[in-house]
Amino acid sequence: MTIHVHERESSNAHLRLTDVLRGEHEHVARGLGCLARLAEQLRVSAEVHPDAVSALLDFLREYADHFHHHKEEALLFPWMERHGMPADAGPLAMMKQEHEEGRDHLRHLLAAARHLQLDAGVRREFVARAEQYCALLYAHIDKENHILYPMADRMGSSTRELYQAPSVEDEKQEQHWEDVVDHLENEARHWPKPRIVPRPGCCGTCG
Ligand SMILES: [Fe+2]
Ligand SMILES: [Fe+2]
Repeated sequence: MTIHVHERESSNAHLRLTDVLRGEHEHVARGLGCLARLAEQLRVSAEVHPDAVSALLDFLREYADHFHHHKEEALLFPWMERHGMPADAGPLAMMKQEHEEGRDHLRHLLAAARHLQLDAGVRREFVARAEQYCALLYAHIDKENHILYPMADRMGSSTRELYQAPSVEDEKQEQHWEDVVDHLENEARHWPKPRIVPRPGCCGTCG
């Protein structure tokens, strides 16, 4: 997604980056709710449609990681570094480390997904990874929403540097991902609700 940074004078049409990112967290949390349901299903049965699993993991890779985490790493974190926050220690180092941990979980989930129907051991590994990934990202989102983004806001994220005007392409992308999440949740309704909900209220499917 191309980010267009503009002057703040027409701020009604512009969005603060931290608010855009908060909105993206809602989509990510809905995807995590689907993954928590998938893990619950795989705990008791190998009966999952491979296309549904692929679509969900593709969303987490393409949207949560490539789209959202990349945007934080390319725009927000460097801006906070330029405004005095250490890059290699403290909150930014922790957030970057958690992005890497999430990527590692995703790599294992994608590799295991090819063998879910055939191997009970792989299913157990997938379930454990999925639950660790959900717990990691729910906590990560919570830290960003309640600690990191408010810090950025106090540092002046409402200055023109971090305002953006959504382009037509941005709006198309947003609608695309909204449609993808709606579809994923529809599929996930065939899977049981998780017994333990990491963050009640994060999404419409797990609570
Ligand atoms: Fe993040
Ligand atoms: Fe985030």
